[in-house]
Amino acid sequence: MPVEVFAGADQDYKVTVEQLEAARTARTSVLVFVSPSNPTGSVYTAEETRAIGEWAVEHGIWIISDEIYQNLTYPSTGSGTGGTATSIVQAVPDAAGQTILVNGVAKTYAMTGWRVGWMVGPADAIKVAGNLQSHLSSNVNNVAQKAAIAALNGPQTEAEQFKEAFDRRRQLIVAELSKIDGVRVPTPGGAFYVYPDVQGLLGRSWGGVTPTTSLELADLILEQAEVAVVPGEAFGPPDTCACRTPSATTSSWRASSASSACSPEPARRVIRRCALRENARNVLRAQPEGRTVRSRRGQSSTPTSTGSGCSSSPNSACTRLRMKRASSDSSAAVAFPGW
Ligand SMILES: Cc1ncc(COP(=O)(O)O)c(C=O)c1O
Repeated sequence: MPVEVFAGADQDYKVTVEQLEAARTARTSVLVFVSPSNPTGSVYTAEETRAIGEWAVEHGIWIISDEIYQNLTYPSTGSGTGGTATSIVQAVPDAAGQTILVNGVAKTYAMTGWRVGWMVGPADAIKVAGNLQSHLSSNVNNVAQKAAIAALNGPQTEAEQFKEAFDRRRQLIVAELSKIDGVRVPTPGGAFYVYPDVQGLLGRSWGGVTPTTSLELADLILEQAEVAVVPGEAFGPPDTCACRTPSATTSSWRASSASSACSPEPARRVIRRCALRENARNVLRAQPEGRTVRSRRGQSSTPTSTGSGCSSSPNSACTRLRMKRASSDSSAAVAFPGW
């Protein structure tokens, strides 16, 4: 049974060893560690990573380290910190015997949907995982494998260009969101998400509507600004108050946002200026199956596909570390969040 350990914006969405220790029991068997993180963009420093790795080694806890955003880290900006990804086995070489590294081409090479990834770890663990996987999904198709090899071995120029664009967008979206009274925005050091804490917007009236949760706020932003954000409830407890907004797909909104004054404005107007409608629609199309969304013009649609990184399933990819306590009859395997 997974045990979730949460960290808020006040600690840059990063848990401490003390928090992990408080959640640990005799049955704790696996730690899922995601840095840089989806959806917060937080990056653990080398020291923080080392402390967590040493804690896991000390207690014989396996680590599943998802490093899929390892190439997407950014320098510090005037107002916010940057990040440098440190692999947990680099920080704590002794952890290698009980660590499974997870990686893939989806993020660095913008190959989301190709579904090509890999694991690196102790041979016996990888063999067992291979046995399980062969019964679940047979194999990755040959075309996708060839494409992944080309991405990994070919020129990296375009990947660098993506990264520069993500960094520009990161800085712009953080700057714009920071102008909104009631929004707190830690600067993400990696990945391509911004995860503002919107607690300060709740309980306030916007056009006659008073959202009390981030889910209600997300609905309001969708209805009134036609911008889709993923409410914090998708990633945490019901009272989490954060909206995730992908910065990877925001293309050229500098032109429309450049004219916005520096003084704080109501969230609806700023966000409307700062986002392309096409971008919002792309995210809407990626909502989980069965969820009906309505645009401001009253059109309804029920999307049928789930997009990577935009799921609002309670199991969607980690905003936090997950720890698994083994139940009496289970092994050390862990269920991955819904990727
Ligand atoms: C942390 C993390 N790991 C893994 C993945 C898997 O990516 P894919 O299934 O597109 O290869 C994602 C996708 O959003 C992610 O955020």
